[in-house]
Amino acid sequence: MFAPPQPHAKAAAALGLIARCKPPMCSVLTARRLQRPFVTDPIISIQGLTKTYASGFQALKGIDLDIREGEIFALLGPNGAGKTTLISIICGIVTASAGRVLVGGYDIVRDYRKTRAMIGLVPQELATDSFETPLATCRYSRGLFGRKPNPAHIEKTLKQLSLWDKRNGMIMALSGGMKRRLMIAKALSHEPRVLFLDEPTAGVDVELRKDMWALVEELRRDGVTIILTTHYIEEAEAMADRVGVINHGDLILVEEKAALMQKMGQKRMVLDLTEPLAAIPNRFTALGLELANEGRQLVYTYDTQAERTGITSLLSDLRDEGIRFRDLTTKQSSLEEIFVSLVHAGDVS
Ligand SMILES: Nc1ncnc2c1ncn2[C@@H]1O[C@H](COP(=O)(O)OP(=O)(O)O)[C@@H](O)[C@H]1O
Ligand SMILES: [Mg+2]
Repeated sequence: MFAPPQPHAKAAAALGLIARCKPPMCSVLTARRLQRPFVTDPIISIQGLTKTYASGFQALKGIDLDIREGEIFALLGPNGAGKTTLISIICGIVTASAGRVLVGGYDIVRDYRKTRAMIGLVPQELATDSFETPLATCRYSRGLFGRKPNPAHIEKTLKQLSLWDKRNGMIMALSGGMKRRLMIAKALSHEPRVLFLDEPTAGVDVELRKDMWALVEELRRDGVTIILTTHYIEEAEAMADRVGVINHGDLILVEEKAALMQKMGQKRMVLDLTEPLAAIPNRFTALGLELANEGRQLVYTYDTQAERTGITSLLSDLRDEGIRFRDLTTKQSSLEEIFVSLVHAGDVS
């Protein structure tokens, strides 16, 4: 359904691939680059992006980020972090103060029409024309991007979003959830390669949120690159391949979700000792035990996904050493905690 990206000399030049290298390497590299399908290059490349609004408020403070073709990227951040500003710049709704953005190798300012046509945007605020029908809205939106009519594509999209039965009714008769899905259908009408979902499930019930996750998965199978913003951590956990955390206009972390989940796999066991310890006996050094609370607590960090946590042998070794404890608690570090501590660290600096 989505046209494969074209190797393109102009795009390569725009990326600085030709200009940067000198002969004789240049001809070799250029030829190799142009033969290779473009999929290995980022679909979106953001460099040194800043935004200072007319009020003097700096909403983005130098964002560098590459989005890979076909990935689902979740941009996590509290309200006011700069998520919508970042998306709005990429979509050409807000002008950047400095930096540059390439979409499919094209500059969003110089080649605005080309880049905008590659993008589908589902904005944070619902905005639909109440007196239109879903079908007309989708057809019209497709035409706006200069695409020839494609009834089969519109039909597929409306069916995918369970709106086909409602295609000829008034939009105002749709439920809130249906209106939200229509916004997505509309954004997909011109077959974009990249879809932005700005807070797709804010204020949406759990059922609908699950539907949205399933839909995103389906779109991924169609090869659409998806960037979604959210302040729900579980949403990023459920859907994303990679997660970026933004706070006060700074991108403070970009990581594969799997790596973040591994961090979540860490668990801490805290033993409240009967007698404080001055030092950890040598036989325990390999386990990475730590003393806390002036020697009154012994902390053991272990991987919950490991085959053996080592807890049983640790407890019997402690008994052998005559180290006794009154209480034992375990605590799992969650993505939520990682997120909160990152954002909090940003607030302090
Ligand atoms: N047009 C504007 N003029 C001045 N400040 C703005 C404007 N739009 C957004 N802001 C401010 O920029 C910051 C980032 O906003 P936004 O990008 O909407 O954040 P998010 O989407 O992460 O909640 C906020 O503090 C917001 O108040
Ligand atoms: Mg926002």
